[in-house]
Amino acid sequence: MVNLRSFEVPTVVKHAPGAVECLPDQVKALGVKRPMVVTDQGIVKAGIVDKVTEALRAGNVDYLLFDCVVPNPPIKLVDDAAALYAQEGCDGLIGLGGGSPMDTAKAIGVVAENGGSILQYEWADPQPIQKPIPPLITIPTTAGTGSEVTLWSVITDPNRHIKYNVGGTPYIGAKIALIDPLLMLDMPAHITASTGLDALTHAIECYTCGYAQPWPDAVALYAIETLAQWLPIAFAQGHNVEARYKVAMAAMLAGMSYGTESAGAVHAMSQTAGGYYDLPHGVLTAAMLPPVMAYNYLGEPVKYARIAQAMGVDTNGMTTLEAAWAAVKAVKKFVKLLEIPSVPELGVKEEDMQMLVDMAYADPQTFGNPRDLTRKSYEQIYASCFED
Ligand SMILES: [Fe+2]
Repeated sequence: MVNLRSFEVPTVVKHAPGAVECLPDQVKALGVKRPMVVTDQGIVKAGIVDKVTEALRAGNVDYLLFDCVVPNPPIKLVDDAAALYAQEGCDGLIGLGGGSPMDTAKAIGVVAENGGSILQYEWADPQPIQKPIPPLITIPTTAGTGSEVTLWSVITDPNRHIKYNVGGTPYIGAKIALIDPLLMLDMPAHITASTGLDALTHAIECYTCGYAQPWPDAVALYAIETLAQWLPIAFAQGHNVEARYKVAMAAMLAGMSYGTESAGAVHAMSQTAGGYYDLPHGVLTAAMLPPVMAYNYLGEPVKYARIAQAMGVDTNGMTTLEAAWAAVKAVKKFVKLLEIPSVPELGVKEEDMQMLVDMAYADPQTFGNPRDLTRKSYEQIYASCFED
């Protein structure tokens, strides 16, 4: 039987410094009369919601503000918001913020069109999502998750203490991603670092995973190169518009490199541990990236050698394996440079290791990993997370 591969980007990417001013026209072009603006209190306090709602009012667009999203959004939050969406007669969504608000907006859309609870839409074969979500505009305020263009929404199930994936179909994709680097200028340095390294992880995992294919490979490699060059500048100079713009584009490309498929062991580990301890996704992912790369490099040495080059390493005179290992060292140094705490410093406990290993092993992202994974492999990787 033919395993037909495909790659689809259902989202139109529109970007410019000041892009938010164009939001009303984008809403109207989609035929939306009353969008629900889905965001969180952090975005309200940062004054970013005001910029967006002012733009909507200036363009005479009616809207409903839902600003109750929390990090690691749980099932009940999505279901309650979807009920509100229906009661208030909304006909479209604007996901404004980091990964959590954008993921929540997608999940609200899934329930609004497909009914029931978001619990029913955990990714499975056959795909449980049968209808496209209402028109969605994503506006990222961090440069990291790539959720503005990914076909995934990550939801937390408090009963199972896990995060699970919804999506893997163009039906969940945004119609428009509106990327405005000016919204990112005041992001604190540590958030710039952790979200940017989440994007680097997306690019590295998708470039080397078993589902890799040429189109996403190309964007992933360019995302790695751009992040290597510009993320340290965005970290050091928060108000450098060019650096913010470059990193925002790289995060979008890294998100696109997912296609309809998923990542690898870093995300299997960081999503399960993050769901268990309720830890922020970016920083945990960043801390887990070097130990997983040290395990994985033997699986895809040629691609790892290309990663080393994209990270700025001169691989001349190195064997392929030496160049592949140089990628691991370069990324480890990069993560340190951006002041990411270690896995134990983030609150992951060594005594929970066996449970964390079991959860990571059960995560579907284990299957895409570039090197075969057993429970023992995860034990080895987790042990190295506690070593240095
Ligand atoms: Fe991620």
